[in-house]
Amino acid sequence: MDILPSLGQAAPPRFDPAIWPITAHPDEEGRLCVGGVPLADIADEFHTPAYVIDENDFRNRARRYRKALRGSNGFEVVYAGKSLLTTAVARWAREEGLGVDVCSSGELAVALAGGVDPARIVMHGNAKSPDELREAVRAGVGRIVLDSCVEIAYLAGVAQRRQPVLIRVTPDIDIHGHRAVTTGISDQKFGFTLAEGQAADAAKRVLAHPILDLVGLHCHIGSQVTDPALYGEAIHRMIAAMADIRAQHGVILTELNIGGGHAIPYIPGDRELDLGELARVIEDALDEACAAEHFPRPKIVVEPGRAISGRAGVTLYRVCSVKTQSGGRTFVAVDGGMSDNPRVSLYGAQYTVALANRHPLGHKQRVTVAGRHCEAGDEIARDVELPADLRPGDLLAVACTGAYHHSMASNYNMVGRPSLVAVKDGRARAMVRRETIADLLSRDCG
Ligand code: LLP
Repeated sequence: MDILPSLGQAAPPRFDPAIWPITAHPDEEGRLCVGGVPLADIADEFHTPAYVIDENDFRNRARRYRKALRGSNGFEVVYAGKSLLTTAVARWAREEGLGVDVCSSGELAVALAGGVDPARIVMHGNAKSPDELREAVRAGVGRIVLDSCVEIAYLAGVAQRRQPVLIRVTPDIDIHGHRAVTTGISDQKFGFTLAEGQAADAAKRVLAHPILDLVGLHCHIGSQVTDPALYGEAIHRMIAAMADIRAQHGVILTELNIGGGHAIPYIPGDRELDLGELARVIEDALDEACAAEHFPRPKIVVEPGRAISGRAGVTLYRVCSVKTQSGGRTFVAVDGGMSDNPRVSLYGAQYTVALANRHPLGHKQRVTVAGRHCEAGDEIARDVELPADLRPGDLLAVACTGAYHHSMASNYNMVGRPSLVAVKDGRARAMVRRETIADLLSRDCG
């Protein structure tokens, strides 16, 4: 198909646009280009492994959110920085009109260094320390989401002026996803449960501190949610909780943050959360719930992370060896692995992999792309189809690695973390440089 583009309509594109960055395409040499830059050139300049981020993809998805949710009476899109955050990413989010959600002093510092208006920052975390709360207050963070009783007391102690806060609530909604990212049920560590009146009790505690300004409630039901109806259900339960707080304490909360968790596809056939449908579900649920409770419509805040940053990123690896074991499986070992992508071992995540430096000619074979780390479980993708003539020196690109890869990378086996390279309009530039052995040694105090 790459060689004879006239056949183009007859077969699916080599790089499925639902999975790869919007600018991904092969050039005439069959090399995968992202942001107008052949990934082979990035490998030459920045070495491998490298995370490559398509700035236009990120910005486009951010823009689509604002457009789709531009409802009546105020919507706010707050980008979840935990998925991918550097000063450049913070700037992109700011320039596209998004707020930023942070959950540590480190993320807060990066967002501020990226020029994000502190008033547009939402601070999360289930174990914020008094120091972290003090830093958030000092920075003038717009919203602090309270997660435990002791945190209410800490914040009241460190606040200098009236601090707007939300209370994190679990609406007892099970997304039936991976347990590690199912956060809307009562039996997990986040927030206050609606059942047994914990959330109403938290509201009472907050209201007892006049320096805390209780503006709303927050919930985050989990990640990789494909069914928008779950957000509709969450809205119903949260508005009922807000009405309950009004009845018990006489305050009207004006903000409802329904978190993020919008699913994206990683392999062909995966479902994604449809943004248009989500917008409709939110509108309908709000109308119904507010009418049922005679409650004034609150401002709605959403916090997508992966749906904005995920598809913008690809990870580029160099093939180190190819071998077929006596068990029959062929292993393609690359120069990265679970240190730059822990998601396979953590969640059994699946990925789409493609040859990036030449035309994939000839036969295909089923292989396991394995990492370089000292564990048999260090795999990037199991049983994927790649060209049978794959050889050491070839480049492989793994799609959908913009979210929760750079941000979750480790130094396992004392391997330096990869560089993060932004591509746009035919140009590549380092956003975060590769970690060197000198960096690793510099933290070792001897
Ligand atoms: N808001 C809150 C309060 C969150 O805790 C999260 C994610 C988000 C928003 C954004 O969720 P997203 O739209 O990106 O799904 N490490 C896991 C994901 C953990 C997500 C934790 N919280 C993974 O790699 O899949």
